Amino acid sequence: MGESVFLNGEFIAAEQAFVSIGDRGFQFGDGIYEVIWCYQGRAFRLNEHIERLLGSAAGIRLELPYGRDELVKYVKQMLTDIKWEYASVYIQATRGPAVRTHAFPSDVQPTVIMYVNQGQGVPTSTREAGIATIIVPDTRGTLCNIKSVNLLPNVLARQAAVEAGAGEALFERDGIGVVEGAASNIFAVRDGVLSTGPLSPYTLPGVTRDCVLQLAKSKGLPVALEFLSREELITSSEVFITSTSKEVLAVTDIAGHVIGNGRPGPVTLELADGYRVLVERECGIKFGDNRC
Ligand SMILES: Cc1ncc(COP(=O)(O)O)c(C=O)c1O
Repeated sequence: MGESVFLNGEFIAAEQAFVSIGDRGFQFGDGIYEVIWCYQGRAFRLNEHIERLLGSAAGIRLELPYGRDELVKYVKQMLTDIKWEYASVYIQATRGPAVRTHAFPSDVQPTVIMYVNQGQGVPTSTREAGIATIIVPDTRGTLCNIKSVNLLPNVLARQAAVEAGAGEALFERDGIGVVEGAASNIFAVRDGVLSTGPLSPYTLPGVTRDCVLQLAKSKGLPVALEFLSREELITSSEVFITSTSKEVLAVTDIAGHVIGNGRPGPVTLELADGYRVLVERECGIKFGDNRC
């Protein structure tokens, strides 16, 4: 973690930042968050992440004490001396500390925190090999479009993936299909068409997903916004996941079924490279030989 963190309007030393045990984020998961990936200290798609944070806050009827411009300013301030190759900015806002009762308390100040962590980035060997995934039942509700701190199903799903030696768990929802990963959106290529789920209460509107859809459009790739069944997914020629920290990452195995020829496919590689070009352009950085 960086040396100083943001807590309710102030930058203070990390070891002096405390939140009340009565905080509704701690008591009820009554809060929202955002993760922004940064390259050499430059935040990628910052405005889009802040916009989604504001949308998540509105989704739980939480009035944030700071507006769009102030939030952008604080994130930039947080990144002032950050030179790491990769870093992530974490922002969390909860309804604040109050006597424990389920309904919204009448007089409560939201808690807003931000901090920056050094990021790892996906190792080149993993990018080249792709990852294995498992499929788990989607035990979440229908607020998955809100980036809320209620992540227990996601935590348990990712832990199951780790224990199975896989890189991600994919949620399968009864009657709908495989909707997204524990912390990623999912795409497939079938008969030359790029598919991903539509915006819905079952998936997070990923900032990376949006970049990939923009890239697909600019490259003239046909796109279908639809959920795929498990059978459709495992018989796709290519599958990949997207997220802020993983970018565009090939999936080469789903629940023991090899995808395509078991290597990242051409559409995946083209979009992964296109994404890095976008990062270079928008963040004003150069990856050099390390681009993909
Ligand atoms: C459940 C879920 N879906 C999708 C994503 C991908 O979103 P983004 O591309 O904005 O990181 C995340 C990111 O953490 C996530 O937690």
